[in-house]
Amino acid sequence: MKKVEVKATKNYEVIIDTDILAKSGAYIKKAVTDLGTAVIVSDDNVEALYGKTVKISLEEQGFKVYQFTFPHGEESKNISTLNELWQFLAEKEITKSDIIVALGGGVTGDLSGLAAATYLRGIRFVQIPTSLLAMVDASVGGKTAIDLPQGKNLVGAFWQPSLVLCDCAALKTLPAQYLLDGWAEVIKYGFIADAELLDMLAEASEPSEEIIARCVENKRRLVEADEYDKGSRQLLNLGHTLGHAIEKCSNYQISHGQAVAIGMILIAKAAVKRGWCEKEVLAKMLAMTAKYQLPQSTIYQAEELKEAALRDKKRLGASINLVIPVKIGESRLKKIDVTELLAIIKDGLQDE
Ligand SMILES: NC(=O)c1ccc[n+]([C@@H]2O[C@H](COP(=O)([O-])OP(=O)(O)OC[C@H]3O[C@@H](n4cnc5c(N)ncnc54)[C@H](O)[C@@H]3O)[C@@H](O)[C@H]2O)c1
Repeated sequence: MKKVEVKATKNYEVIIDTDILAKSGAYIKKAVTDLGTAVIVSDDNVEALYGKTVKISLEEQGFKVYQFTFPHGEESKNISTLNELWQFLAEKEITKSDIIVALGGGVTGDLSGLAAATYLRGIRFVQIPTSLLAMVDASVGGKTAIDLPQGKNLVGAFWQPSLVLCDCAALKTLPAQYLLDGWAEVIKYGFIADAELLDMLAEASEPSEEIIARCVENKRRLVEADEYDKGSRQLLNLGHTLGHAIEKCSNYQISHGQAVAIGMILIAKAAVKRGWCEKEVLAKMLAMTAKYQLPQSTIYQAEELKEAALRDKKRLGASINLVIPVKIGESRLKKIDVTELLAIIKDGLQDE
């Protein structure tokens, strides 16, 4: 195991190592330079496991520490929890020289990031992601959001952290189902732009610093080229148009990562049929998703998936940008007319 540092966008660092939570205070002090108050935001699960370690580490460095803890789960990523957090920050008289420390999975990171982006029109925050998905995806890139009853991530802001600290040791306590969600995103990077990562995944049995660093590096590259998601950053949505549709159709009973895995396979099947994608891509995708115990098919019909996909926020009027895998380690954006989508989904659902 070795420590890996990745220079992410906007000059903040992503540090990936093992057993570093007890040293988090020192890393944070170095990144934010001035000492003030740190508010650790976590859900109840993560707080119980790691809250104390991070609190002690920050206090050892001279920070005054408060903790804000909310019930775990996507249900908490809403305006009500955000409002409680805003009021907590105000009650504790948090100022612009203080920091929020998001300690947890993607829900914690998204919620804390949006609080940091909006409270006092913006204060600094540090991400300490504890789920694989948050390490490889949610904590890097600066997207923050909450959900509305009408849909996920509908209200948010772009707000970059001052530092991201990934402690691989935290993954040992992550429940298996959430590890799977993370693996789906890791595999996704391979098919977007990184054939070597796919080779590493063929050999790997657990997430390593090297694998996480490669994913962060891939995300960094795509985000730097297109911070506000107008072009190449959209490649990160491989498997997402149909993945989101599957999540919605299942009333969010199918998790995001697992839905994305199915979404990648459906789009690859359709792309192979249409001659847009080499056959080997689909074979490798099926092998990878099988190895990491991810689902490969869905019970939903083409019509209902199309309806759900067209309600997606990524739709651009009469067209939709699909991410199409074209060869191993390479995907491309393809703008299609919404009237074509049903036929594409039907192709994806048909067996080869
Ligand atoms: N901002 C972005 O760019 C971005 C990208 C991808 C996903 N997301 C968001 O991320 C969220 C999903 O992230 P997630 O899967 O991490 O969800 P999550 O934060 O709900 O974490 C999943 C579960 O694992 C638990 N957990 C987390 N780390 C743990 C650990 N080390 N040990 C034990 N339990 C642990 C949590 O308490 C929770 O119950 C979604 O809301 C999604 O919209 C954001």
